[in-house]
Amino acid sequence: MSILVTGGAGYIGSHTVVQLLEQGHQVVVLDNFSNSSRESLVRVEAITRKKLTLIEGDIRCEATLSKVFADHQFSAVIHFAGLKAVGESVAKPVMYFENNVVGTLNLVKAMSAAGVKRLVFSSSATVYGEPEQMPITELAPTGGTTNPYGTSKYMVERILQDVCRADSEWSISLLRYFNPVGAHESGLIGEDPNGIPNNLVPYVSQVAIGKLPALQVYGNDYSTPDGTGVRDYIHVVDLAKGHLRALEFLEKRTGCFVHNLGTGLGYSVLDMVKAFEAASKQEVPYTIVPRRPGDIAVCYADTTLAKQELGWEAQLGLVEMMRDTWNWQSKNPDGYKS
Ligand code: NAD
Ligand code: WQD
Repeated sequence: MSILVTGGAGYIGSHTVVQLLEQGHQVVVLDNFSNSSRESLVRVEAITRKKLTLIEGDIRCEATLSKVFADHQFSAVIHFAGLKAVGESVAKPVMYFENNVVGTLNLVKAMSAAGVKRLVFSSSATVYGEPEQMPITELAPTGGTTNPYGTSKYMVERILQDVCRADSEWSISLLRYFNPVGAHESGLIGEDPNGIPNNLVPYVSQVAIGKLPALQVYGNDYSTPDGTGVRDYIHVVDLAKGHLRALEFLEKRTGCFVHNLGTGLGYSVLDMVKAFEAASKQEVPYTIVPRRPGDIAVCYADTTLAKQELGWEAQLGLVEMMRDTWNWQSKNPDGYKS
């Protein structure tokens, strides 16, 4: 199949492009490199020994999208492009809604005009807001989001559901990712955050490599076994494979479908620190600081539906997640600039 991957140079996108190329698909990546570099795609080609087509462009530009669809015939689109920093979204909500919501509307319009009506969308467990029950099933209420980033994902989900209701030719997969971590086992591609990382695992790995002095653990007074926040961390390669299963699933049906992509297991911040120390053989000093506003105590997926409907479940555990994060970090201490 010929597949358009928006945001394909980014963290999850690049790992998904590896899987697509390895399965023999033709891939066109559209990315504006606002949070990534060309180097990730050079390395994707090195890993797979296959070529992809790269278009530098922005999903906020309708003319760019029209040209992309005029120049290529796609079977489907996987849509990663978007901004994802929660704190930044609070400071710059308009920028987030423009990239994530307007950008997606532009994409849907261009797809519709070209008659390409199969789409996999990067949603997030953040759409569940503060969940009432664990594990979280796809039927849990959504929309109680606490920041513009989360709201943008929720809004796009609603828009795409309405698109499917209005036109029965569409088939759309909304994949709600839990907490992606890890890197390709080659150590050639991985997560390369700009500046100081917001997320736990990139932060821990920069402490371990000596770029940051210590981790700040945001609260140890949650009602969890050790008092620190519990999350469902999923290896990015497992996550990437989930996209291929979603594409296969959409081939046989129309409509809008929602799936959680997580492992179903919850680990605390201190579990993660210990696992990282074991994998890296480095000490990760930390201090306990007050809770981060907006954080929830516990979040992990019910993975039954993805298993039943997509035939997908995570294969890689915490040891592999930490091993591969450290392999990437130690081989590329300055990310793609190394
Ligand atoms: P990323 O920032 O590494 O990748 C996003 C890519 O999109 C980058 O290459 C960026 O340059 C590109 N991009 C951004 N705005 C664009 C625009 N207007 N036009 C064209 N390209 C644009 O992020 P990621 O971690 O790979 O996340 C991919 C998707 O998954 C995002 O939509 C994100 O919101 C979603 N998601 C991520 C996580 C996570 O924790 N990483 C969790 C849930 C959902
Ligand atoms: C994990 C745990 C923190 C950093 C975010 C987004 C979510 C999704 C994934 C895109 C929490 C603790 C963290 C640190 C810490 N992204 N922590 N010290 O908050 O679960 O989810 O990324 O959709 O929308 O909100 O991930 O990695 O930031 O935090 O103690 O320096 O680690 O409090 O318990 P989170 P995270």
